[in-house]
Amino acid sequence: MTKAKIAILISGRGSNMMALLYAAKLPDCPYEVVLVASNDPDAPGLALAAAEGVPTFGHSHKGLDRTTFDAIMDAQLKASGADYVALAGYMRILSTGFVQRWEGRMLNIHPSLLPKYKGLETHARAIAAGDSHGGCSVHLVTAELDDGPVLGQLPVAILPGETAESLANRVVFAEHQLYSRVLADFVSRERNPEWLLGKVRELALALPEASEKTSHGSPGFFVEGGKFFAYFSYDHHHDGVTGLLVKSSGVEEQAMLIERDPDLYYRPAYLGPSGWIGIDLGNGDNDWEHIGEWLRKSWRLSAPKRLTKLLDIAEEF
Ligand code: GRF
Repeated sequence: MTKAKIAILISGRGSNMMALLYAAKLPDCPYEVVLVASNDPDAPGLALAAAEGVPTFGHSHKGLDRTTFDAIMDAQLKASGADYVALAGYMRILSTGFVQRWEGRMLNIHPSLLPKYKGLETHARAIAAGDSHGGCSVHLVTAELDDGPVLGQLPVAILPGETAESLANRVVFAEHQLYSRVLADFVSRERNPEWLLGKVRELALALPEASEKTSHGSPGFFVEGGKFFAYFSYDHHHDGVTGLLVKSSGVEEQAMLIERDPDLYYRPAYLGPSGWIGIDLGNGDNDWEHIGEWLRKSWRLSAPKRLTKLLDIAEEF
């Protein structure tokens, strides 16, 4: 399996960066660290990463406007071949352009149970509020500070007489456990059948009057008052394939697709000589827009006239 390439951005000691780095060295870790970069050339974490043989880059942001500095960082990230960026104590507000370029591929770790306590002084605020737990969150980075979708959290109990410092010292243990696990799950999500089913479900059920029910042991999607338009197939009769079955226009299109792209399309077993076509979802990097189009097309072939007519009218506008 090819490993996802991760670049880590730090500003300080880099303990989370080291946790990600050592996790990457364990067998079966789905990511590798291709770059550690910092806005402080003297950040202690840079020297630690270099000692472990990881390429590093340090460049001070001082005297540079945000966009110029982010462009310098971005050029390094691109040159490293990074697929994802992990922020680990990177004390910079990011420019909008930079956030957009890495949207959906940039994660951050924050020392609170988000949405509580965005920003700084998180531990002191949790203690002052009388919370039973502090903790940490890993989230996707969006334009708003510490605001993107949360991918994972770990609560840490607050003890009597706790200080911000003592709590921070314990939360960091939780951070080191959480970050590498969430990052590994995130970069390999497209190989996780449950995640794939969730994604297919989201797209299929967004179609008009679509519903789900199990059919021959597989999750199936049908149009109310109409027929099935998709099946999610996971290791069906031990075929080892995770795929989506949709309707093509007929056996000719089916044959043409399989001939044109045999890595993506396959002829589903057990469905007889029909136009059903299998789309392999197990390559680790699916084109969801394309899959969405297939679902729409298949839905159209299965829906009753009254619904397709409505859709035709809506699409004209
Ligand atoms: C961590 O507490 C992290 O949650 C926050 O910054 C700190 C970084 O610490 N974003 P380190 O440099 O990883 O040791």
